[in-house]
Amino acid sequence: MENDDRVPERALPPMPMPEPTTPADATARTAYGAADRAAIYRAIRERRDMRHFAGGQVAPEVLSRLLAAAHHAPSVGFMQPWRFIRVADAALRRRLQAAVEAERQRTADALGQRRDAFMRLKVEGLCDAAELLAVALADGREAHVFGRRTLPQMDLASVACAIQNLWLAARAEGLGMGWVSMFDPDAVGKLLGLPAGAQAVALISLGPVQGFYEEPMLQRERWARRAPLASVVFEGTWGAPAPWLQADPAEEDAPSQEEGAGHG
Ligand SMILES: Cc1cc2nc3c(=O)[nH]c(=O)nc-3n(C[C@H](O)[C@H](O)[C@H](O)COP(=O)(O)O)c2cc1C
Repeated sequence: MENDDRVPERALPPMPMPEPTTPADATARTAYGAADRAAIYRAIRERRDMRHFAGGQVAPEVLSRLLAAAHHAPSVGFMQPWRFIRVADAALRRRLQAAVEAERQRTADALGQRRDAFMRLKVEGLCDAAELLAVALADGREAHVFGRRTLPQMDLASVACAIQNLWLAARAEGLGMGWVSMFDPDAVGKLLGLPAGAQAVALISLGPVQGFYEEPMLQRERWARRAPLASVVFEGTWGAPAPWLQADPAEEDAPSQEEGAGHG
């Protein structure tokens, strides 16, 4: 069976749709107002991966709103493969942080020349944030074939969509969030009592921050920089420039190639 949660089959009435109009009018009819649009783009631009937190708390109603936002993410075949575990216990948090620290050391060893630069980076704030959420891929995913027969990793892509929803909603709520993936998933899975077939994919720090970084911390620390938009958008075939593409307004404020840090 494709999906145990599937809706029972029955005759469906047609999907209600408004009167057809031109595509431009249809877009005008469905678009948000200018202020709402600006707020969406603002949250996208100002979202940051945060590693410095101000302690405090996240009210249950806010945490519930954020998790509902995550749960409204798209998912392949609507499989909703995300599971969230809130970790309030301080001892368990410390053990999760120790798992991250162990992997940080292993990552440093694998980095060769960049080892020292990497070790200077702050890569997590697990014990400083008001909340710690673990996000896992659910067990039983092999039952879901729709959209995954050739790309089984679309389950992970779906979980990433949920985490991004959480991230953007948290930014709008004035809360910082950090995604840590630097851990051995088996070790973290054991600590969290995950069933066979489930897999931990993120440790999420969430909570009040004194302020948001103005640019990605890894850019500020000269580990990497955002690639120019034109270097990642093609027309027709790989590598062919897209002549219609307008510059990303954020690039005007960014340092020039010479000033900026080099990539990995
Ligand atoms: C899938 C994923 C895993 C990540 N894992 C880590 C991590 O283990 N440690 C860390 O410090 N940052 C982690 N990050 C955050 C990235 O470093 C960050 O998104 C990137 O530097 C860009 O910065 P920004 O999110 O502020 O735009 C992760 C981000 C993603 C999307």
